[in-house]
Amino acid sequence: MHIVHISVEMAPIAKVGGLGDVVTSLSRAVQDLNHQVDIILPKYDCLNLSNVKEFQYNRSYSWGGTEIKVWFGKVEGVPVYFLEPHNRFFYTGCIYGCKNDAERFGFFCHAALEFLLQSGFHPDIIHCHDWSSAPVAWLYKDHYMHYGLSKARVVFTIHNLEFGAHFIGKAVGYSDKTTTVSDTYAKEVAGNPAIAPHLYKFHGIINGIDQDIWDPYNDKFIPISYTSENVVEGKQAAKEALQQRLGLKTADLPVVGIITRLTHQKGIHLIKHAIWRTLERNGQVVLLGSAPDPRIQNDFVNLANQLHSSYGDRARLCLTYDEPLSHLIYAGADFILVPSIFEPCGLTQLIAMRYGSIPVVRKTGGLYDTVFDVDHDKERADAQGVEPNGFSFDGADAAGVDYALNRAISAWYDGRDWFNSLCKTVMEQDWSWNKPALDYVELYHAARK
Ligand code: ADP
Ligand code: GLC
Repeated sequence: MHIVHISVEMAPIAKVGGLGDVVTSLSRAVQDLNHQVDIILPKYDCLNLSNVKEFQYNRSYSWGGTEIKVWFGKVEGVPVYFLEPHNRFFYTGCIYGCKNDAERFGFFCHAALEFLLQSGFHPDIIHCHDWSSAPVAWLYKDHYMHYGLSKARVVFTIHNLEFGAHFIGKAVGYSDKTTTVSDTYAKEVAGNPAIAPHLYKFHGIINGIDQDIWDPYNDKFIPISYTSENVVEGKQAAKEALQQRLGLKTADLPVVGIITRLTHQKGIHLIKHAIWRTLERNGQVVLLGSAPDPRIQNDFVNLANQLHSSYGDRARLCLTYDEPLSHLIYAGADFILVPSIFEPCGLTQLIAMRYGSIPVVRKTGGLYDTVFDVDHDKERADAQGVEPNGFSFDGADAAGVDYALNRAISAWYDGRDWFNSLCKTVMEQDWSWNKPALDYVELYHAARK
């Protein structure tokens, strides 16, 4: 099959969150199953071109009175076509955050379909993602399907229903198949008026992570390579490097890491509570958080100042986006906390496990589907064929976080051998695309019937 993704994010060159990771890693996994996969992406001025191989001019075409230059390159081994319209829509220094985002991305979707038509591509599947490439679904069905691209079927993936519900609703209606990124989130949103009438074509497929991109055996951002065989030694070295880099006390203490966009979705009040609770329990905290909202950013700057006076050597809040640092935290932390209010899938808990860090999560969406509490979920884990792998809680208040975090930190202090064997267990679990990519291929086939 030939699959074309039309997306506005792609890791690592144009990534804001997990959507970017998924577009790249799902493409790689489906390509590895011997399908042809291409990605169409805007050519932003803020693209990190050093990660694009064989970058070259491809062609030019016109649409809507605008000349569009097409560039080609390979990112993580996946062919990418970059669209650069003469109207400078993507010369804004950012991916999202302009007043006319809807207009810019609407233009991009139209231009991408026009590119497929004018270049004589005949994909079997056109796969679009979230509100930003949702217009592809109706532009194709209302127009392009009748003009030369007729073979293609449209698959639409909802990564987050919170944004652009109006666009998403329309795309669900027009797509041949709609997916979302975990079974539990699929159930949670099944009653949404945009989705409820279309349940017959709506499927939950859990995301995977790319085990080559996230690989503690081959990671230039951590001090020593490790596998599950030398996880204790590998994580110890990473913890020391992390403590030194951030000016924290270099000591054998339980480290709680948090790597997140700082938005309402991620449970801001629970994150704050967990920071204080960890410090009271004699742990260290490292938060790496990017806040698109300046009020939230200020709030955390104030918190950092407060922490500095009383816990300067045990807490560090890095209020920025920093990919290399994220790798060191995944490796150097003992726990990765994800107390989201809702979470369609969540990748940080999966990356954490790949690095032998134990997830502490709120039971929602994909977090529920991938984290099985060591004290409470043995049966549910058995049914999935996995070992329990973390700590989790219900509710959205301090008591919930405390319940999970207290057990996690006590386990670290009181049962190091058991804790170390848990790190080995989670590292050996398979949260890759191996299974989910097969599910997508099956879904693509079903869309074509
Ligand atoms: P979401 O897409 O809702 O932000 P996910 O858990 O699906 O959440 O994906 C988040 C991705 O972004 C992960 O790859 C995570 O490592 C990365 N990430 C989040 N915040 C930061 C940050 N401040 N610095 C570096 N990487 C980050
Ligand atoms: C969204 C969701 C997150 C998911 C990611 C990739 O950003 O918030 O839960 O993991 O998309 O699908």
